[in-house]
Amino acid sequence: MELLLYRLCCSNLFYVLLVIIICRLSDCYDPLDPNGNITVSFDILQYTSDGYVARITIQNFYLYRHVDKPGWRIGWTWSQNEVIWSMSGAFATHQGNCSSFKFQTPHSCMKYPDILDWMPDALPQNRSDACCKGGILDAWAINPSKSFSSFEMTVGNLGGNPTGYRPLNLTLLAPGPGYTCSPIIDTDPTVSSVVGGRREEQVYRTWKSTCTFSSYLANKTPVCCVSLSTFYNAAITACPNCSCGCRESDQSRTLCTSQGMSPSDLVSDTDILQCTDHMCPLRVHWHIKNNFLDHWRVKLTISNYNLGRNYSNWNVLVQHPGFSQNSTSYSFNSIVLPTIGVPDEVALFWGIEYYNDELLQADKVQVGSVTTEILLRKDMDSFTLRNGWAFPRRIYFNGENCEMPLPDTFPMLPNGGSRIDPPHWSLLPIVVYLTYKISGFRF
Ligand SMILES: *[C@@H]1O[C@H](CO)[C@@H](O)[C@H](O)[C@H]1NC(C)=O
Ligand SMILES: *[C@@H]1O[C@H](CO)[C@@H](O)[C@H](O)[C@H]1NC(C)=O
Ligand SMILES: *[C@@H]1O[C@H](CO)[C@@H](O)[C@H](O)[C@H]1NC(C)=O
Ligand SMILES: *[C@@H]1O[C@H](CO)[C@@H](O)[C@H](O)[C@H]1NC(C)=O
Ligand SMILES: *[C@@H]1O[C@H](CO)[C@@H](O)[C@H](O)[C@H]1NC(C)=O
Ligand SMILES: *[C@@H]1O[C@H](CO)[C@@H](O)[C@H](O)[C@H]1NC(C)=O
Ligand SMILES: *[C@@H]1O[C@H](CO)[C@@H](O)[C@H](O)[C@H]1NC(C)=O
Repeated sequence: MELLLYRLCCSNLFYVLLVIIICRLSDCYDPLDPNGNITVSFDILQYTSDGYVARITIQNFYLYRHVDKPGWRIGWTWSQNEVIWSMSGAFATHQGNCSSFKFQTPHSCMKYPDILDWMPDALPQNRSDACCKGGILDAWAINPSKSFSSFEMTVGNLGGNPTGYRPLNLTLLAPGPGYTCSPIIDTDPTVSSVVGGRREEQVYRTWKSTCTFSSYLANKTPVCCVSLSTFYNAAITACPNCSCGCRESDQSRTLCTSQGMSPSDLVSDTDILQCTDHMCPLRVHWHIKNNFLDHWRVKLTISNYNLGRNYSNWNVLVQHPGFSQNSTSYSFNSIVLPTIGVPDEVALFWGIEYYNDELLQADKVQVGSVTTEILLRKDMDSFTLRNGWAFPRRIYFNGENCEMPLPDTFPMLPNGGSRIDPPHWSLLPIVVYLTYKISGFRF
């Protein structure tokens, strides 16, 4: 039994099984943000002679997954023969066939309208409240005031039923695929307070749909990996080779360039990276810098190997039990997120506005990078440099999981020994569960 446990937890197979089980149990949703979703609400503000005026709000409730350039794109199917007479704060990409409307031209007659946000330079006549951000939505835990977008539309051609029919089959690209939206349902009408909070007003009717992200559906290759180093060992644990692709492989759609070659020599319209053994566009490095009497200090560095992409409003999430104690991050913003049912605390880091909130592209000579030192208080009962405790359990960049090196490659304490110890105790319940499963309930 002990032997089985040991062999399980120290083999690569264990990690493969772990990933499969987490995906199976949860359909690959993110256990660190289990309630994350993007909610799309249709508020009916007013009825008209042949339809209604609706305000559509797209609220990003993901704590650390933002909607990046080129922004959201939503669409649906009309259940009847609706048309959009006019729209402000967004626009339909196609007008469609409006030839049956002789006296007034609708904004869009499409059966499946496809809607985009205006850029910030939109004309005042085309704007509405909370619009025109080029479809970009910030993450909820980072900037709630910029985590939603809204637009208004006048819907008509409904004939006898001006109270309207719910649109069907909402689709959301934010910006790429990966989001699945629930059917649009009737909910309690949205209430807003006016007169300085002394009066409440409610809309006529509210329809809602909730869209959730699955990295399995998005089918993305990893974008990020983790490397580790310490003050007590000169060896650096690099990102696992081929974390995001292999340099030699022809199938890889990512191109890389060695020093001296300019990106313009290569084919455009794919990401071009600096060549590395990991081939990730991004790398997060965790360096254990000092071990003081009652504090310890880490240097966290995020590097961009892309030669043609800057990351605005980047964020990095680190899962580590050390964040249960007070910590100070010197050059990034940070908060510890509430987690339920997840072992080990989760801290979220993001850049300081106008200082390092933009992770710049690499050039031929160096990568773009941002860095901070983090001072953590020690919990004397749990702090240890042994067994890889001081290394992160999990790291995300912009909500995407970063490939971690395997525990048997972590930097060792000078007196050795740490390689044969099993990895984090936080994994023990899963080890036990697996052992239980594999041994077929025989103990
Ligand atoms: C969407 O997220 C919000 C905020 O976390 C939560 O209150 C709501 O229940 C979520 N909706 C669904 C359907 O999960
Ligand atoms: C446009 O719609 C009208 C009637 O709704 C139809 O007669 C006409 O053929 C359509 N035109 C095209 C190009 O589809
Ligand atoms: C934007 O506003 C201009 C000026 O009023 C108007 O001509 C144009 O049709 C509007 N665009 C859309 C897509 O509503
Ligand atoms: C909506 O989606 C369902 C299931 O994907 C499909 O059966 C149905 O035909 C779609 N409806 C329309 C009007 O496209
Ligand atoms: C990764 O690849 C480099 C050369 O490309 C090699 O030197 C190194 O040993 C490899 N590391 C591992 C862990 O396989
Ligand atoms: C990235 O930012 C730098 C400096 O602001 C700028 O020169 C460069 O053009 C930007 N790259 C892209 C792809 O926008
Ligand atoms: C955490 O650190 C801050 C600032 O250094 C201090 O004000 C606060 O009391 C500390 N909290 C705990 C629980 O130690």
